[in-house]
Amino acid sequence: MTCHNARRGLRNDDNFAESDTKSAGRAPHGSAQTDVLMGENAYLVNVGIRASHSLVEDTCVICHMEETPPPDLLSYNLGGTNHTFFASPDICSNCHGELQDADSLQAAFQASSDELQDLVEQAWLEVIGDLTDGGNTIDLIEDDTVVATITSAADIEELIFGETHGRQGLTVIFTAGTTVGPLRLTDMSVIDGTGATIGTINEFAADDLIKAGWNWNLANNDGSKGVHNPPWVFAFLDASIDAMIALLGG
Ligand code: HEC
Ligand code: HEC
Repeated sequence: MTCHNARRGLRNDDNFAESDTKSAGRAPHGSAQTDVLMGENAYLVNVGIRASHSLVEDTCVICHMEETPPPDLLSYNLGGTNHTFFASPDICSNCHGELQDADSLQAAFQASSDELQDLVEQAWLEVIGDLTDGGNTIDLIEDDTVVATITSAADIEELIFGETHGRQGLTVIFTAGTTVGPLRLTDMSVIDGTGATIGTINEFAADDLIKAGWNWNLANNDGSKGVHNPPWVFAFLDASIDAMIALLGG
């Protein structure tokens, strides 16, 4: 748990305004398992909602090392180590009987996660469209160099939302065929009609878009596709989906 957490400190609706989640476009660090298992560090949802799976004896260890025996070649079996972190999708029945399997839960997770990702991408396209309609352009920056400029939402074939370098990020696929990214949101600079840089695109987004983007990355960086804390993960994915639908005007 000391290692497998998002390493961003406390992040929730109560401290969003004082945190740098929005101004720095932060994303949770990879391996966000403990946050999810303990129900902490998500937005648009109640926090402190510990998973039932955090209450089973030895929690991480039981699923990853005992119920899923480590591979002989990789580790000293009797030590019970299994740092592949592979967990068999069949272990559920050891505790739950036939009632529970990983496949159906993970498929439902994937559907919600994909829906949220798609809505977040639509919302970012709207932010970019509003900025360019307002007479600005957006410089895409890699290694301190402007590698492309967006002049209109019509320049964009597709946006892919995700994470890069510990920040929320976008990949931009231009209608002309080129692909730029993944880029940090903080490497997408807004240039006004006079040529002045007036900020980076995250500063122009609604708080809920930044929160939903964080949540999407938290759910995906956890890597269990919902298994670690099923009800809580679905709660914050659903809340994020609702917030994005509201943001996009219903
Ligand atoms: C109820 C059983 C269970 C518990 C408890 C549990 N895990 Fe998991 N974990 C899983 C399952 C199942 C997966 C998904 C495996 C898959 O889909 O291949 C997973 C996925 C992961 C992954 C991603 C593995 C990969 O291949 O990307 C990591 C890392 C991980 N867990 C670490 C932890 C840590 C750390 C804890 C404790 C804080 C923990 N898990 C607690 C069952 C559990
Ligand atoms: C080491 C025992 C153990 C394993 C293995 C385990 N669970 Fe659980 N799980 C529990 C306990 C205990 C509860 C809480 C009591 C209950 O709901 O049955 C729980 C609850 C749940 C719930 C209800 C929601 C919640 O969090 O309270 C779901 C869904 C669930 N588990 C899915 C799974 C899936 C999918 C797997 C396999 C990847 C799995 N579990 C593996 C012990 C386990």
